[in-house]
This record gives sequence, structure tokens and C-alpha cells, in this order.
Amino acid sequence: MEGLKPSKRYSYTTEGLKPSKRYSYTTEGLKPSKRYSYTTEGLKPSKRYTTEINFPTTIHTHFVSIIKTPFTSYNMTTTLSTTDKLLIERLIRISKEKPLLPETFVPWTTDFVEGNIYLPEKLVSLAGLPIYETLTAWQKQELARHEVVQALYAYCWSEGLFCVFMNRYILNRDPQDLERQFLIRELIEEFRHQEMFGQAIDKIKGEPIRVSWFQRVLGNITAKFMPDAFLFMNCLAVELMADQYGEVIRKEPNAYPVLRKVSQLHNIEEARHILYTQAVLKRYTTGLSLFMRTYYSIFVLINMRFFQNIYVRTEIYERIGLANPKAVRRAAFGHYQEKFAKECLDTVKSLVGEFNGFNALTRPLWKWLLKMEV
Ligand SMILES: [Fe+2]
Ligand SMILES: [Fe+2]
Repeated sequence: MEGLKPSKRYSYTTEGLKPSKRYSYTTEGLKPSKRYSYTTEGLKPSKRYTTEINFPTTIHTHFVSIIKTPFTSYNMTTTLSTTDKLLIERLIRISKEKPLLPETFVPWTTDFVEGNIYLPEKLVSLAGLPIYETLTAWQKQELARHEVVQALYAYCWSEGLFCVFMNRYILNRDPQDLERQFLIRELIEEFRHQEMFGQAIDKIKGEPIRVSWFQRVLGNITAKFMPDAFLFMNCLAVELMADQYGEVIRKEPNAYPVLRKVSQLHNIEEARHILYTQAVLKRYTTGLSLFMRTYYSIFVLINMRFFQNIYVRTEIYERIGLANPKAVRRAAFGHYQEKFAKECLDTVKSLVGEFNGFNALTRPLWKWLLKMEV
């Protein structure tokens, strides 16, 4: 951004040809305005500044733009390539022509029967540890039920937050704006997902262990005030992770049919969201500085770690009657992280690799905090 520049053009006023004093934002940063306005005293240079892209005029959004400026002023374009536009148009069409309604897609009346499982052992925190072999069949089943409830709850909560961000992002876009149209479809789908996750939790009589007060506040601040690029990046990471998690359940032939169909519906619709977010993210991730690559990489890993913390809970070990649940949780967490990295984080790793987010600082952090070789 080069700063405010005067216009090089002139306009006719009642007193003759006068230079303009107006300036405006353009897609290439703040550039001289090419527009003029009439006043009650005739055509006069304006003393106000205008924003021609998504820089809204309310106090709230001005506050947001102040916060996001240091993060988004680099390499920022507002246009999508023709290929990406066509892709997004196609995604909108599919969403309209082939809607998947949880009401009819998921067999809600099917009950859990013997032989069904709530969660494949690949994703159960204690499976693979010696303690798992000491559990009764009931304890194993309950462990899986409580842990899948945590995953459903985590998606429900984080999708609600992402809806707050999407509303913020489209609020000042034109009604016919392509991204606005797509995000309205995504919002519709995300609301349906949240309802579906809630219903699934109800169906399996889940009692989610909620995020802490601090995490709630942090989530709210993130959705309302953090830069668009930050939100898109972290949303994509969560969608990629959730996609792989759901895939494990979807592919498990003995998975409880309600959960299998929930995962299938979610995977199909999230695939479209992922394609859109990847297209939009190009504007933020091309030619990133070392600082920004490090910044994104660290926040993506914190986000993944945050989800792992929601899934593996001391309270669950307490509920299934294990002695010393805190010690069990300490032993289980590292083990779970290794499994999780193997089953659910491949695509997240590729995402971070694509914008060169692994370097001498971030590599040890990924290894230390996520038990991942990157
Ligand atoms: Fe979703
Ligand atoms: Fe999504």
C-alpha cells in the first residue's frame, strides 16, 4: 500500500475545471479516485475518502479493518480467476440442485444394535495402549460413544463460530457478488450440519463436555475480529481434518448407521466448502513473507491441538469408571496424538506445506505439540 495519493484528474465545477481532492481504495491499495461528486454548491472536490472494495463503513467493521490491515495488506487482490469463478458457480449450482437434507438422508429411526460401533478403534484414545485390553466390552463401547460425542460437539461449536465470520465477510458485499452467493449456500449447509450434529448427539444420548470459558471467549474474538485470511486458513485446516475423521467413520462397515450417514453427508458438503476456501485462499497465500508463513503455520497447529484437547478428556475416563483418570489422560494424550496425526492430519500437513509453513522454527513445534514429523 502506497498511502493516500491525490487524484490526477480534474472535474468541471460551476467555477470551471478544478482538481479533485477525493481518494479511494482500489484493488491495488489506496489509489487516487477517479470519481467526483456534486454538492449543493455545485461540483466540488470531496473531502471524504471512499472504499471501492470490501471496506465497509460501520464503526464495527472499521475496527475490524484496522485490526486486519497489517495482515491483509500484502498481495491482496479481490478478484478470482476465471477458472475459480466457474468453479464457484458450479459449486453453487450443485448445492441448489442436489441438496442433502439430514432429515431424510440420515436414518434417524435406526437404533444402535449389537455389532454396531460408535467409533473405529483407530480414533479411540486408549485403543493400542495396555490399559485398553483391561477394559470391559461396556467400557470400550462407552469410551467410543463419549469420544465421538466430543467430535460432533466440536464441529457444531466451531461451525457456529465460522458462521459468525461468514456473515461478517459477506455483510457488505453486493447481493449478486459470487462469493456472497456461495457463502449463503455454505451458511445454509453449515446450519443444517449444526442441527444434524445436535440431533446425532441426542440420538446417542451424548453429554458433551463443553469448551472452557476462556476458549469460548477466544473463539468469539477470533470469529468477530481476526483477519479474513486467518479465518479462512484455520477454517480450511479444520475442514480438512474433519473430512479425514469423518472418512474413517464412513468407511467403517460396522459403524452405527446414523453416524455413518452423518459423516457421509458432512463429507460430501464439506468437499465443496474446501474447494471454495482453497480458491479464495490463493489471494492470501501467494508470495507470503517468512513471518506470515510462520504465523499461519503456528496458528494451524494450535488449532489442531485445540481439537485434540476437546476429544481426549479426563471426564470421559471418569465416566467409564477408570481409577486415576488424570493419569490415564496423561498417558493417553501423546498416544492419541500419534494416531490422530496418522489418520487425520495428512491433508492439513499438505496445506501448510503448500504455503511453505514448515521451517526451522515451526518444524520442532509441530513435532513437540502435535507429535508430527513434518
Ligand atoms: Fe460443516
Ligand atoms: Fe464447511
